[in-house]
Amino acid sequence: MQLKVLALPGDGIGVEVTAEGLRVLKHVAAKYKHELVLTEGLLGGIAIHKTGTPFPAETERLTLEADATIMGAFGLPEFDNAPPDKRPERGLLAIRKVLGVYANLRPVKAYEALLDSSPLKNHLLAGVDMIIVRELTGGLYYGTPRGISGTGDEERGTNTMTYTRSEIARITRMAFKLARNRRRKVTSVDKSNVLETSQLWRRVVEEIAPEFPDVKLDHLLVDNAAMQLVLKPAQFDVIVMENMFGDILSDEGSVITGSIGMLPSASIGAQKPNGAWVGLYEPVHGSAPDIAGKGIANPLGAIGSVAAMLEYSFGLIEEAAAVNTAMEAVLNAGVVTRDLKGTATTEQAGKAVCEAIG
Ligand code: IPM
Ligand code: MG
Repeated sequence: MQLKVLALPGDGIGVEVTAEGLRVLKHVAAKYKHELVLTEGLLGGIAIHKTGTPFPAETERLTLEADATIMGAFGLPEFDNAPPDKRPERGLLAIRKVLGVYANLRPVKAYEALLDSSPLKNHLLAGVDMIIVRELTGGLYYGTPRGISGTGDEERGTNTMTYTRSEIARITRMAFKLARNRRRKVTSVDKSNVLETSQLWRRVVEEIAPEFPDVKLDHLLVDNAAMQLVLKPAQFDVIVMENMFGDILSDEGSVITGSIGMLPSASIGAQKPNGAWVGLYEPVHGSAPDIAGKGIANPLGAIGSVAAMLEYSFGLIEEAAAVNTAMEAVLNAGVVTRDLKGTATTEQAGKAVCEAIG
């Protein structure tokens, strides 16, 4: 099979972890005899430095040409005071929108070998295995009007949280479909005691639910959900929520199982006629400029994202499973980076995963 993959390593540790993700991808392609056609492009801070814009037209073209895109991380401290449309992060938001990847899947799973790296007591982690389904192309991140206007005491910042029925319906169906292949439970998170967008959200979720009579649905307010995630994380199977709630709760979810460096994500949306998903794959962590270039970043989030790409965009279930099994073997063997209390470098951890694949 031909695998046309675009890599957008981006900024900070994005470069190092993507290199290890690609090392594993090349290894898998060679072992299972797939033809890998790999291109590399610019997105984020590096794109601003080289082209003046965080999402150059050339990158957009490459993205639309590729079967799947693997990304690193975006953001650099020198842009901290830049206006939102001149920041690296804007490139990430633009590429998500252009591809129409409205569903961001962030699996959170407890690994035996990582129990002691978790900030939670071990007994709370038994059985933790959930997918956070974050709506990715709507809500506060994209709503208008937005901006900063006025002057002095009247200077005003504005963002708009807005959702249409169809945006809510499609992400809800995605969550229910995923739940069908799991423990058949969906928890919808909102703030319907205060926000109108959440009231519509809850109503639409309730309307869709009868299409999936075999899946149990419950609702949680977002503040309670944040608390339940640390009190009793094993209760969750599929959790679905709007964009910003998902941004916040997925960082919380990631760290309870050991390290945010572990967490992969898949952003999917449109499906091709052959059933493959158009997809963007990226670790959940940020660009971590404080540790960039030191070779200590955890590459497992990026490698897990490669596994997700093999599965969702190419339907290569066996290859994806081989990567996931190898990652678990590497965790058990303790060839892990500093965030997981190990001494391996980014590169050593990546190479160990290749060796474990065999
Ligand atoms: C994430 C990140 C991004 C987001 C930032 C870098 C724009 O935090 O993917 O979770 O908020 O979506
Ligand atoms: Mg985030």
